[in-house]
Parts: sequence; C-alpha cells; structure tokens
Amino acid sequence: MSGILAIYPGSFDPLTHGHLDLIERGSRLFDRLIVAILTNIEKQPLFSLEERVAMLRAATAGMANVSIDTFSGLLVDYVRRKNARAILRGIRAFSDYEYELQMALMNRQLEPSIETVFLTPAEAYGHISSRLVKEIFQHGGSVKDLVPPVVEERLRQKVFPK
Ligand code: PNS
Repeated sequence: MSGILAIYPGSFDPLTHGHLDLIERGSRLFDRLIVAILTNIEKQPLFSLEERVAMLRAATAGMANVSIDTFSGLLVDYVRRKNARAILRGIRAFSDYEYELQMALMNRQLEPSIETVFLTPAEAYGHISSRLVKEIFQHGGSVKDLVPPVVEERLRQKVFPK
C-alpha cells in the first residue's frame, strides 16, 4: 500500500475527546493512521487492553483510513515493523512539551528515518487527560463532555457496576 502511514501510540486508558480529535486530524493529514495501544504500561491500567481496543474501534468506526492495534516493546521497533514513516503525538500545553521533546529526540536517535509529528488538539480539549477523567468519574463527577459516549458507558460499568 502506498502513501504515508503514521502511528499514533499511547496508553488510551481511557480514550478521551482530546485523543479522538487528534485521531481525526491525523486521519486527514496522513494516508493511513494506526492507533497503537501500548500493552506493557508500568502503571496499572483501569481498562484491560481488550476493553481499550473495543472503545477505540467503536469510536473510530466511521474513519476508513484508521485502524487500531496493540504493541509491546520499543515504539520505534513497532513503527519499523509496520513500515510507517511518522509517529503522531499530541501536545496540549507547554507542560507536555518537555517529555514529548525528550521522547521524540530519543526515538530519532534510535531510528533517524522516523519523524515525530506533533499536533495540537482543539482548544476546548486542551485540558483533558485520561488521568483526570478517571479521577473525576470515580468521585461522581460528569465526564460527558470529556469522553465519547462509548467510554462514558464503559466507565459506568467498570466503576459503578450494578
Ligand atoms: O499515552 P502515553 O502513556 O503518554 O504514551 C506513551 C508512549 C506509549 C508513547 C511511550 O511510553 C512509548 O512509546 N512506550 C514504548 C516503549 C518505548 O519505546 N520507550 C522509549 C520511548 S523514547
């Protein structure tokens, strides 16, 4: 397949409107986009890998050039295996920049042919993070404007099971 393939890696625990906004932007910019969920995150995730895959699949069902995958090990090794050209990451605020720059430079050192492309989500989503979504929901706050409906429903089932 020709065209530029990009990888959007992350933990997505869970997917937020900010992530989805970035996926939409990435799907318009690149010919194909793979959203790749890291399997071996150090922190204990709230959602299993299967649940995160299912939520991402449901939320991106209408995007023809977007697919969902999982990976373990080094990101650059996965990107190489997929023959992708770029890594997509989101920067919400200056506070993201230091960590993202460090990762981008390290990934470039590991594999100079792969470019990291940074996009900013819509302003309305600049303050959303998966960590805050979980915290707000666990304390009974509304996350309706922060995550897609499929994620809100899964959060309800997971955190407040009947
Ligand atoms: O959504 P996150 O948790 O900010 O995503 C971080 C992620 C998955 C992009 C990063 O932890 C990663 O790439 N992990 C894979 C291991 C790796 O390649 N580490 C070296 C990065 S320089």
